[in-house]
Amino acid sequence: MTSLRILVHRTDESLDDEIRAAVVSLSDSQTVLHFQGDLRGTVTAAENFQPSLVLLEIADDLEATRTLVEESLAVVPDATIVGVYDVDRLPPSETESTMMMRALRLGVEDFVRRPVIGNDLEQLIQRRLGPRKKKKLANAKLVSFISNKGGVGKSTSAVNVAVALAKDHPGRVALIDGSLQMGVCAAQLNMMPRVTLVDAWEQRERLDEELLRQLMTTHESGLELLAAPESAIDAAEIDEAFFSRILLMARRLYDYVIIDTFPLFDRTVMTILDLSDQAVIVVENVVPTLQTVRGFFDLLSEVNFPESRQRVLLNRFTTRGGSPGIGDVAKYLERQPDYVVPFNRNVVTAANTGTPVVMTSRRGAASAFRELAKDIQSLEVREAPSFDTANEANRPSSEQGAYESQNSLGSASS
Ligand SMILES: Nc1ncnc2c1ncn2[C@@H]1O[C@H](COP(=O)(O)OP(=O)(O)O)[C@@H](O)[C@H]1O
Ligand SMILES: [Mg+2]
Repeated sequence: MTSLRILVHRTDESLDDEIRAAVVSLSDSQTVLHFQGDLRGTVTAAENFQPSLVLLEIADDLEATRTLVEESLAVVPDATIVGVYDVDRLPPSETESTMMMRALRLGVEDFVRRPVIGNDLEQLIQRRLGPRKKKKLANAKLVSFISNKGGVGKSTSAVNVAVALAKDHPGRVALIDGSLQMGVCAAQLNMMPRVTLVDAWEQRERLDEELLRQLMTTHESGLELLAAPESAIDAAEIDEAFFSRILLMARRLYDYVIIDTFPLFDRTVMTILDLSDQAVIVVENVVPTLQTVRGFFDLLSEVNFPESRQRVLLNRFTTRGGSPGIGDVAKYLERQPDYVVPFNRNVVTAANTGTPVVMTSRRGAASAFRELAKDIQSLEVREAPSFDTANEANRPSSEQGAYESQNSLGSASS
């Protein structure tokens, strides 16, 4: 599920279909393409999209190539820069090898010939991004809490699990409030952070791991929180390309990254899923909720989010008031819930006082949240596909639709 991102700079748009076709034939990869035709667009895209490969069409003007290479490397230093050329359309004064020599001197690291075919692209990826070139793995475990419905307990679960983890790993756990339009994590932790995701967004030009660390607010449990914006209007600007950058950085900074989400299957949630080692689907045993959860499972399967990375948490479990028992819940879901969190009045009190139950209790709901935290600690981090430099994966975005994805989550979006 980790995506390979390729940024293509070209003026000849006939290259697009060639590359699309080559990408389709790649084995075992989720590839996301982004095409650009002008210098500024390419540099901005490189920055937001953080590609592993930048394909530059080598045209007559090698000086332009130099600028592109320099500017791209400045914003994505880890990307591999690849020249794409057509032997039949080299400048009259150049041969294939003189062109290559010159391009290499300008910082191009590798080449593919047109027409670009799948096999060549595959070999290039192996050569450049294969195991030997693998960079240091970002090996945090990333776990998100999702649902198709509000009020089921995502935030409560995310906060409690994050605090439980932080108690064992102080300073090593990040909670990111991805419920951008209505974040409650800070309130549930009785925190009033001076900085939120909006500050990170405003400083996006210079945002790096060090700055991100400074933007986090420390909770008494040792948990590091990146809070949602206070106002939904501020949050509206934040896009998923930026959100994925935050997650990728957090993954390098911490050992555990817990993400709360908003109950909407939008691009932000897809980005989060793409990067999640595990998604905890929170449901409650109320018949109308259970009736719609199956549809949500179907959606996850449509976007190829595998069941092996899903866990079902049945929250607020009670058999009072005619609520279905576990057996009936399992029938509705067509699977067994992995965790059952009982209805506890003290969870409500905890939300009001801003002291999560795992801080004050070992029983009931707290015990279930701890169990989940324990399983997260023993979770195997997904192995990155061989092409992956392991520092990237992105759910690309663009209102203009400039980003495209092939057989990935994105194809089923919106
Ligand atoms: N196990 C539980 N027992 C009792 N109340 C709960 C439990 N889990 C959550 N709640 C309460 O349900 C409400 C909604 O929970 P919340 O975590 O905000 O849901 P979501 O994030 O899915 O919208 C909150 O008032 C919370 O305190
Ligand atoms: Mg919530």
